[in-house]
Amino acid sequence: MFANSRPVTSRQDAPHPDLQAVLARHFAHPFQKPVSAYNHDAFAHAMRAWQAWNAHAPLILDAGCGVGWSTVRLARAHPDCFVMGVDQSAHRLARDKSELGTVPDNLVFIRANLVDFWRLLADAKHTGVTLFRHYWLYPNPWPKPAHLLRRWHAHPVFPTILQLGGELECRSNWKIYVDELADALRYAGEHPDVLPYDPKGEYLTPFERKYSESGQNLWVVRCSGIR
Ligand SMILES: C[S@@+](CC[C@H](N)C(=O)[O-])C[C@H]1O[C@@H](n2cnc3c(N)ncnc32)[C@H](O)[C@@H]1O
Repeated sequence: MFANSRPVTSRQDAPHPDLQAVLARHFAHPFQKPVSAYNHDAFAHAMRAWQAWNAHAPLILDAGCGVGWSTVRLARAHPDCFVMGVDQSAHRLARDKSELGTVPDNLVFIRANLVDFWRLLADAKHTGVTLFRHYWLYPNPWPKPAHLLRRWHAHPVFPTILQLGGELECRSNWKIYVDELADALRYAGEHPDVLPYDPKGEYLTPFERKYSESGQNLWVVRCSGIR
């Protein structure tokens, strides 16, 4: 069932030629779309869960966590941190997790739109909210050139994401996605590394497993200490 996934195809064979101009626009003009009520509620729920567990625990955001495998595994790997697994799909979040064993209590699953969730986190910065780590595990690649602005590093929310500080790790099966993200981080003055990624059979997410077992190449962007 897993090993039949095809690599991403695109008319793009290099980072998008408009990326720098798009970033210049986003960094010059704050993103002002109103935040929807359901995301306010979701954010309040996430904050309460964090505070109830330990408001001093460093925060990890598993952005686009899908069925939540990675959220559980990250929470286990970082028992001193609190992990928020955020996805817009209630269906994916609700997927049975019994195959993962006991779900640790230093996590919360939140159904929300990340575009609003990131902005609410940044708005809460004055209360001391920052991220210890951002994980973007196999974000939707949006490989059509016309869809550039849907990729997180070219979305108007990108400058807000960087305000949250911390370390960012993004994994993808599309090299151009990681190259563009690295270019966008460099544009913002950061120093990312792009490397091939071999999960060695230890899969953090179902997409990682599917792509790897289909023989696809995977890549990772790591950026420490976003300022
Ligand atoms: C390709 S899947 C990867 C899921 C998971 N990280 C994995 O590797 O198995 C991308 C996920 O991002 C979520 N997503 C996309 N756009 C989103 C948004 N604006 N807000 C929240 N989740 C979003 C989708 O619902 C989907 O679960």
